[in-house]
Amino acid sequence: MSNKRIFRWILYVLGVAIIVLAFWPVPSTQGSVGGKSRGARLGLNAVRNETLGFQKVFAINKPSRVDKRDNIVLGSTVSDFYVEFIDGVVPGNIDPKTYPYNLHIDPKSAQCAARRAHVNVMQRIVHQRLGSAIVFEDDTDWDVTIKTQLQSFALAVRALQKTERARTASSYGDDWDILWIGHCGVDCRHEEPFFLTPNDLTVVPTTHFLPYLRGVPHMRRPENARMACTLNDGVCSNSYAVSQRGAQRILAALSVIPSPLADQIDTGAEFDVVLGRMCGHGYLRCFAPYPSLTGNYRSAGLASKSSDIANMPEDIVEAESHGLMYSTMLNLNRLLNGEPTVHSTWDDVPTLDVDPKDISTPQGGTIQMQGAQGIYAVRFVPW
Ligand SMILES: *[C@@H]1O[C@H](CO)[C@@H](O)[C@H](O)[C@H]1NC(C)=O
Repeated sequence: MSNKRIFRWILYVLGVAIIVLAFWPVPSTQGSVGGKSRGARLGLNAVRNETLGFQKVFAINKPSRVDKRDNIVLGSTVSDFYVEFIDGVVPGNIDPKTYPYNLHIDPKSAQCAARRAHVNVMQRIVHQRLGSAIVFEDDTDWDVTIKTQLQSFALAVRALQKTERARTASSYGDDWDILWIGHCGVDCRHEEPFFLTPNDLTVVPTTHFLPYLRGVPHMRRPENARMACTLNDGVCSNSYAVSQRGAQRILAALSVIPSPLADQIDTGAEFDVVLGRMCGHGYLRCFAPYPSLTGNYRSAGLASKSSDIANMPEDIVEAESHGLMYSTMLNLNRLLNGEPTVHSTWDDVPTLDVDPKDISTPQGGTIQMQGAQGIYAVRFVPW
């Protein structure tokens, strides 16, 4: 063989090897190379730490609602993450001098109090120079597999930021302001790529969705696949992560210097409404999973205990969780008793009982794009 042919042959072999390596799904637990697991090499192990790969986990809770604080304390301990509480604001207790000039919701309303509580969280994040934090409202419930779900989601949002192989300070990538993890509706940007994680056992069947506001994203999603997309809008703020950059921008727009942004979008409304508008305007870069990763819980007792915002009739009702396949709150007794399996929220699902250890490997997926000819796959991203 001539040198030229050998050279070509080597190039060919190298090319095939690179393609095979790039597309080979490496199992996360066993598949360690040079003593380092894939999760470690991707920087995704931190997602399983005590603060879910963020610098802090906050929960907003009115001190009078000690029952909801009980829920969050026990649930997060069983799920092995640590929550710090931020006091919720009591409606009517806000000094009128602190209202932004363009506030147009009833300043004495629960919505206005909730808005101020979220702004207080932003103030704390900025003040403590936190790189990022995740914020829960106190009626939030999450899947028993939340850490695995968040690792898959981290992989997805890093791919959407085009940083899945790069070194990033945050496990979730460095170019985001809001990760809208728990919502009751999103509007995805159709002109941007989205990410599809197939075969996620924890995806709630569409028949059990609470009505999602803003409709169904236009992208085709197989029934048990989860999507991640760049946001145009979102509704409800039951959980979200915010970066330092995001917290600074929100604090500026909702309190310190509202006028520049208020000239372009209405920033005087409820917190989730304003957050959605800031995402749509491009002032914040926001990503979300669909369906939502977190749901809502109300323990047994007075129906009115579910919300400090809405007033419900005073009936005694059973404990209830919405929006989750394997609710942490509904499975607390099983988890505390050391039972090996957890039970689904509904009886008509394919996998009624599952050992959470069997859902401890995150999933890769495909970056997809909507073109003139419909949706096409751009690239497979292995875990
Ligand atoms: C969890 O990981 C994040 C990201 O690496 C880090 O900033 C944070 O300090 C870690 N938290 C704990 C409790 O180790």
